[in-house]
Amino acid sequence: MSQLSIAPATRPLCGMVTVPGDKSITHRALILGALAQGQTRVTGLSQGDDCLNTLRAVRGLGVDVQEIPEGVILTGKGLWGLTEPSNVLDCGNSGTGLRLLAGVLAGQDFFSVLTGDASLRSRPMGRVVKPLRQMGATISGRQGGELAPLVIQGGALKSVMYESPVASAQIKSCVLLAGLFTEGTTTIKEPMKSRDHTERMLGYLGIPLCVEGCNVHVEGRQSFEGKPIAVPGDISAAAFFLVAASIVPNSEILLTGIGLNPERTGILDVLSMMGADIAILNKREESGEPVGDLRARATRLTGTTIGPELIPKTIDELPILCVAAALADGETRIAGAQELRVKETDRIHAMAVELARIGVALEEQPDGLVIQGGSSLRGSVCQSYGDHRVVMSLAIAGLVAKEPILIEDVDCVETSFPGFQGKLLDLLTNSK
Ligand code: S3P
Repeated sequence: MSQLSIAPATRPLCGMVTVPGDKSITHRALILGALAQGQTRVTGLSQGDDCLNTLRAVRGLGVDVQEIPEGVILTGKGLWGLTEPSNVLDCGNSGTGLRLLAGVLAGQDFFSVLTGDASLRSRPMGRVVKPLRQMGATISGRQGGELAPLVIQGGALKSVMYESPVASAQIKSCVLLAGLFTEGTTTIKEPMKSRDHTERMLGYLGIPLCVEGCNVHVEGRQSFEGKPIAVPGDISAAAFFLVAASIVPNSEILLTGIGLNPERTGILDVLSMMGADIAILNKREESGEPVGDLRARATRLTGTTIGPELIPKTIDELPILCVAAALADGETRIAGAQELRVKETDRIHAMAVELARIGVALEEQPDGLVIQGGSSLRGSVCQSYGDHRVVMSLAIAGLVAKEPILIEDVDCVETSFPGFQGKLLDLLTNSK
């Protein structure tokens, strides 16, 4: 198990940087490419372990995937052409991979088993098993289907109208993907709008779909042709550098080709509320998603309130926002974020323990944190909890601590951001 030692930055972060392709969009491109007729060329895709596991799963379902320098070309099997996998499909650390694939596999005329690593096998799956069972799926799993491995005897599904108790794009996407195999219209309703990459990609591929506020309706049994999909840079990866550039004095960086889906840009809204100096440049659209460049300059941040209405669009960025809050003047409150407790680890607890260890005054609450900004951070040995976003958040904190921070067990960074440390070092050495 490797360690990562981050020394206090002695220079600003400077220069231009790209980040891995968006993880959410990559999963969807691989899955929908597998279900399309003909070829889907996916460029700029995430090469993180999470997406590589989805790629392996798609291959395990009989899809031909050709690797090219810019990405992959999938030769889709159409809605009804996937074949029974000869082995268990291992989604590794990825909740998105497992939950989206469950929606697809429920509608197949074959048997399959989905599993993952110890973290994924402890995360709630009942939230997708329940709607899939309502659609007629035969699924079993540990604790009555609450936990993976999930054993799926696929078969005919019926369309439903499902009201999800949580705003979750994984639940929504699972139901919409299962809906592709039903006769008629499947509707999913969520309490607040979650990221809409699935809806955008279905629309881009020409599948009849209607979005009315927090309700999404999809028409089943509509075959569709593959189309080129350009995956933008992942704003959830960019978030670490946006905060780093904001808190390390005199920094100025440019992140190019970043996905700016409005359901994902909560990090920009919150950092702007905190007084950050971030500009959106060169805004454009690629494969149905807004994309742009982000310029971030160092500035003094002030504390803010991140209430329940902002949670769905900041959910993956809350760990790094905790670091921004620790460096800001005044108090920051995060509330309504109980979903953070069922991510790759319990991120509320992990960030509370690790930030306290390096000298941050904070209070852990059932649905969030109250963080007092402005204390000086000290060096320490920190734990990763096997969670990529915890590691990268603590690494950014290390840039502004008084002594080095040593983070243990950091291999998990590979799940979303291979090359993170190298890119951070490049930004720090550009200003020489
Ligand atoms: C994702 C949805 C979110 C997010 C995850 C990716 C997706 O999870 O946290 O990293 O790609 O659909 P939930 O659906 O559990 O909120």
